[in-house]
Amino acid sequence: MARCPPEVVQRRAETEKLLAMETEDVVTAMKTERTQVVIVGAGPAGMLLGHILTRCGIDNVVLERQSKAHVLQRIRAGVLEAHSVEVLRRWGLADRLDAVGAVKDGSQIVWQDRPGHFIDVRKWTGSPMFAYGQTMLTEDLYAARARSGEDVSDEVTQLTFHDLATANPWLTYERGGQSHRLDCDFVAGCDGFQGLARAAIPQAFQRNFGRVYPFAWLGIMVQRPPIPDFTYAYHATGMALAAQRNPMLSRYYIQVPLTEKIEDWPDDRFWETLLLRFPSDLAARIQTGPSIEKSIAPLRSFVSEPMRHGRLFLAGDAAHIVPPTGAKGLNLAISDIHFLSTALIDRYQTGSDTLLESYSATALRRVWAAELLSWRLTNLLHPMPEEDAFAQRLRQAEYDTLLRSEAAQQALALDYAGVPYL
Ligand code: APR
Ligand code: PHB
Repeated sequence: MARCPPEVVQRRAETEKLLAMETEDVVTAMKTERTQVVIVGAGPAGMLLGHILTRCGIDNVVLERQSKAHVLQRIRAGVLEAHSVEVLRRWGLADRLDAVGAVKDGSQIVWQDRPGHFIDVRKWTGSPMFAYGQTMLTEDLYAARARSGEDVSDEVTQLTFHDLATANPWLTYERGGQSHRLDCDFVAGCDGFQGLARAAIPQAFQRNFGRVYPFAWLGIMVQRPPIPDFTYAYHATGMALAAQRNPMLSRYYIQVPLTEKIEDWPDDRFWETLLLRFPSDLAARIQTGPSIEKSIAPLRSFVSEPMRHGRLFLAGDAAHIVPPTGAKGLNLAISDIHFLSTALIDRYQTGSDTLLESYSATALRRVWAAELLSWRLTNLLHPMPEEDAFAQRLRQAEYDTLLRSEAAQQALALDYAGVPYL
């Protein structure tokens, strides 16, 4: 084996001395802090949890990868279950929702060459649903955090989780050129589907379930009055959906092949495709116009179990994804946080771990109900690429059952409304 010449050995010794000094510098430059709960991700799940914990005097820090401006301009769905609205009201977050959110008795399905069907949530559950954009709810949550004198640590990078399976978890991250170490009692992984929290759980402790659908949704936003009801249109050429944000803002979607590119969808082509999929009387009432936003999203179902590893608790899209059919994603984020915040509050007030222990199972009960509903609606309302005539006939038979059977109508309305929390 070759021996190192003496001058190299000396150079190496000097380098090691320098490196040791640098490490020391890094150690002293690292800002070390402590909080009770670290919340990773400032989407609706993380921000709602932060708000509830702050209200209950539980110290928390919210870390977000993106800038605040980026988070606030993201466009997502806009349907809230009565259960979600109840949670928001309980925590003082529903003033604007109650002032400008539209109360909806349910949603409509229209079908090529068949009568339509109204999913009558109010009739079967006694409560309505609400049209309120996630973008507005996110604004409300940021405003509430600012009012309580807390902030969001945004634009964090290099986030790393440590000792999650011990009683003393901690995180390290960079922000604005400063290295941080944050010690805590618990970590809430609310960092969405692409986040790092779920990936911090060793694979041996985690089981993933999922489906990827063979098509996508192309959505646009347009400054035109919406048609009165959320309306899903089934057509042999694909599904279309009329949704809404406020009396002057409409959101429309069409099913497209996974391979489609936005640049191939100028507004004219979008409108022509959409209007063809609605019955002519409804198509005549849809006010078209220039899009102010346009995006394509693939559809997937995904659940990661359990929603806990040691002191790390997953909530919202970090743990599960639903296809947008049924608009359950935001509602699941709210119910997860309801269960998680209740468990954390109980832990800090009584010292009991019981609710934290049952958090994953409790949250997953609702998650799987929503997975089932959104999977069923997706299969009912979308012609699948390359499906055969047998599959098409079955879909029509399923819709005919819905038209004919009051029991089927009630079952769909109850699932669409979201299962009660307990
Ligand atoms: N560090 C910090 N934050 C992160 C990281 C990271 N490494 N990775 C992702 N994030 C942030 C994202 O930038 C995002 O702001 O976590 C946040 C997750 O927010 P959402 O994706 O909105 O997820 P969630 O709060 O669970 O809300 C679920 O929102 O995504 C929709 O359709 C979904 O309606 C559903 C709801
Ligand atoms: C929306 O408002 O964007 C929306 C509504 C209903 C859905 C999906 C999306 O099923």
